[in-house]
Amino acid sequence: MSIRIKLLLSYTGMLVISLLMFALGAGLFTIASTGDIRSFREFYKVHYRLNPLTEQEESIFLELKYLAKNEPDSLLDKKLLSDYDFKLRTVRAGLYVRRESNQVFESLTFKQPELENALPPYDMDNSQIRNTFNIGERFYAYAKFDFKFTDGAKGGVFVIRERSPFAELSRKLLPTLSFILIGVLVIANLLLYRWITRSVVKPLHLLRDSAERIKEGNLQFKLDLHSKDEIGQLNEAFENMRQRLQQSVDLRLQDEESRKELISNISHDLRTPITSIKGYIEGIRDGVADTPEKMDKYVDIIYTKAVDLDKLVDELFLYSKLDLKQVKFSMEHVDIASFLDDCIDELRYTFEDKGISIDWDDQAGGKFEVIADLEKLKRTVLNIIGNSLKYMDKDDKQLTVSLQADPEWVTVEFRDNGTGIPEEAVPHIFERFYRAEPSRNSSTGGSGLGLAIARQIIEGHGGSIWVKSELGVGTSVFFTLKRTTNPGRDRSA
Ligand SMILES: Nc1ncnc2c1ncn2[C@@H]1O[C@H](COP(=O)(O)OP(=O)(O)OP(=O)(O)O)[C@@H](O)[C@H]1O
Ligand SMILES: [Mg+2]
Repeated sequence: MSIRIKLLLSYTGMLVISLLMFALGAGLFTIASTGDIRSFREFYKVHYRLNPLTEQEESIFLELKYLAKNEPDSLLDKKLLSDYDFKLRTVRAGLYVRRESNQVFESLTFKQPELENALPPYDMDNSQIRNTFNIGERFYAYAKFDFKFTDGAKGGVFVIRERSPFAELSRKLLPTLSFILIGVLVIANLLLYRWITRSVVKPLHLLRDSAERIKEGNLQFKLDLHSKDEIGQLNEAFENMRQRLQQSVDLRLQDEESRKELISNISHDLRTPITSIKGYIEGIRDGVADTPEKMDKYVDIIYTKAVDLDKLVDELFLYSKLDLKQVKFSMEHVDIASFLDDCIDELRYTFEDKGISIDWDDQAGGKFEVIADLEKLKRTVLNIIGNSLKYMDKDDKQLTVSLQADPEWVTVEFRDNGTGIPEEAVPHIFERFYRAEPSRNSSTGGSGLGLAIARQIIEGHGGSIWVKSELGVGTSVFFTLKRTTNPGRDRSA
């Protein structure tokens, strides 16, 4: 059974129960206020004109009327009148008989001196024999019959019953009130039903449609229901799920794309040295290298290409392992300043050989401990310095290494006065296989993996790496590493 039907049934149920309760309440109230179940039964038979008497009273009244018509003088008989009054009193009514302006009999039920004045004047046609009158706050209903005694004197007999004035009012208003009340109940139920269906059922339908769309693989939509209730929360959770799915699909597509690109780049980069190795070997085989010098040259070239190939395969292997997060970092406490000292010492011969003046500037001047994988960090430094050596075009070659520290991080900078990097290339140089100069076979060589590897390593340490460069002036590569020691322990801090 759908929620809509359940709601409809429950509201209809509530409506029926309310109506029943209302009818029961009204019945009980009437009985309580009039003290008579029959008056409730007669409720709708009588409208504005009240039928004042019950069946029993009515039959007594008819008897009295019969007497008044046929034996009017018997209505002067106090004994007879007392008997009738007694019968009337058992049903909580009373008798009143008058002759001209004199009272012949007044039931003890009333004991109202004003009663006489309140009664209607003689009406010998008896055109209105049932009516009501008030004495102050008290409200009476009566049936009367006017007649003539045998001596011609006017007489009147009244069967009177006191009623609650409220009963009269409610009798008048009840049909309208009931109608309005039922109307209000029905409208309120309809409005509630509409409100609940709009705020619950509709959003649920929307969610179901969205789930259907996701099932069909369509994630390109946005679910925004602005409600703060549980449905709103459900919608929010659903929307988060959709976004996550969308992200993971995007990521998968991106991965797929970059895998294709990686394979094509690898094949290209492997083919280049292999083609030239093949070319030189063919040269030897065809007897092109016909002198020992030529032969030596060919073999040297083949050897260099094989070394390049080996280096490329090695870099590719490392890069893909880092990319797949398959490389374990063997972390240890490292003092970054002495680590840089060692690296520069190791390369001192290379710097001298290439005529590069190295300026190692430990501005922070202290011991700064970081947690790092020494071997990988060294690889990073060598890749960065390697680039500075490779892309150095000035006569006065300079490389500055400097170290700065704040309480949380140490920042290492490698600044050279080489070619610099074109502005548009700067955002890409950490991408794998990216090389700023268009030709891959230029004298500087390289596969474009050096900085990609450096970034994987630094990010693997929780740090970041970036570059600042000016074309023709030089390049600065920075990386940061998180400090381990309490700054209070450092000399500088
Ligand atoms: N110090 C630098 N000066 C000028 N250009 C640089 C410098 N460092 C990097 N680049 C530019 O960024 C590109 C990417 O550098 P990366 O180290 O990743 O690749 P590569 O040096 O070309 O090859 P590999 O390092 O794999 O041998 C380089 O091709 C070069 O164009
Ligand atoms: Mg490089």
